[in-house]
Amino acid sequence: MKKIALTGIKPTGIPHIGNFLGAIQPALKLSESCEARYFIADYHALNSSKDPAAIRNMSLEIAAAWLACGLDPSRVMFYRQSDIPETFELLTILLAFTPKGLMNRAHAYKAILQANSEAGKDSDDGVNMGLFTYPVLMAADILLFDTDLVPVGNDQFQHVEMAVDIAQSFNHVYQTDAIKLPQALAHETGKIVLGLDGRKMSKSYGNVIPLFAPEKKLRKLIMKIVTNSQSIEEPKDPDTCSVFSLYKSFASPQQIADLRQRYLAGGMGWGHAKQELFERMNEVLTPYRTRYEELMANPDYIHKVLLEGSQRARPLAAAKIGQIRSIIGID
Ligand code: TRP
Repeated sequence: MKKIALTGIKPTGIPHIGNFLGAIQPALKLSESCEARYFIADYHALNSSKDPAAIRNMSLEIAAAWLACGLDPSRVMFYRQSDIPETFELLTILLAFTPKGLMNRAHAYKAILQANSEAGKDSDDGVNMGLFTYPVLMAADILLFDTDLVPVGNDQFQHVEMAVDIAQSFNHVYQTDAIKLPQALAHETGKIVLGLDGRKMSKSYGNVIPLFAPEKKLRKLIMKIVTNSQSIEEPKDPDTCSVFSLYKSFASPQQIADLRQRYLAGGMGWGHAKQELFERMNEVLTPYRTRYEELMANPDYIHKVLLEGSQRARPLAAAKIGQIRSIIGID
């Protein structure tokens, strides 16, 4: 039997190259060997955004982005969290099995308290209950679908462990194994994508290359990548260079070996290296960009895909909720 892989995609704008290489591509690869269930986590976005147009738009954009990158909705169950009301019923049930102290220990929540106190504010400033109970909603997302594997970034590991704790607490109380225990799967191992300033590519550092940046903009951003002040003649070290590091993610083994040689030989300036990177990236990314633009011009198609995904997901969710309700005595 194939393993069930599930992950939630927060609708937070158009992805960047770091998201593409570090999350989207590995998840799509995983979907070839697993039964994959990937969803747009729109209710999670409500905790931070109260702008209806932004929520609508970002959900559409992120769905289009994953489809453009090759998510095949006939293989992957691709749906919106908000179209699966059983999620919110399971959330209510799981809340009764979640010690408040467990939530107090969540890193993401603790980081906000810390930032508040450093800013001299009340520690709970701006923290709503949706944010506080975020890990329980995430547990409901996961546990509703008998998930085996949860591909996520390292920052989400603790949340998946909390889902396991909550599931174990439920199973222990009723002496059952009705809720399957999931496992987090790191998709970032060994692959840190460097941003324009040489630090890890991240929206919070403002050093990203948007995945669908138009050609001109892509070139401009690449030309901005920070390098050292070595002259054209000097031999250069490919292994400490952000330009080369990005190049490796887009070029063939032969192309990588060739560029490495040119670095080591000297006589190649940073402008040349960046031009090579631009040409390579532009060639790989152009079909994705085109497909993304086509999809965004046809939102009805995206809605249809997500609706069909939810129609496949709901019977599974309903069966699971039925089983759980009968265990707890609300049937
Ligand atoms: N919390 C995840 C993030 O910030 C998104 C998410 C929501 C998720 N529900 C999930 C991930 C369930 C995995 C499984 O990226």
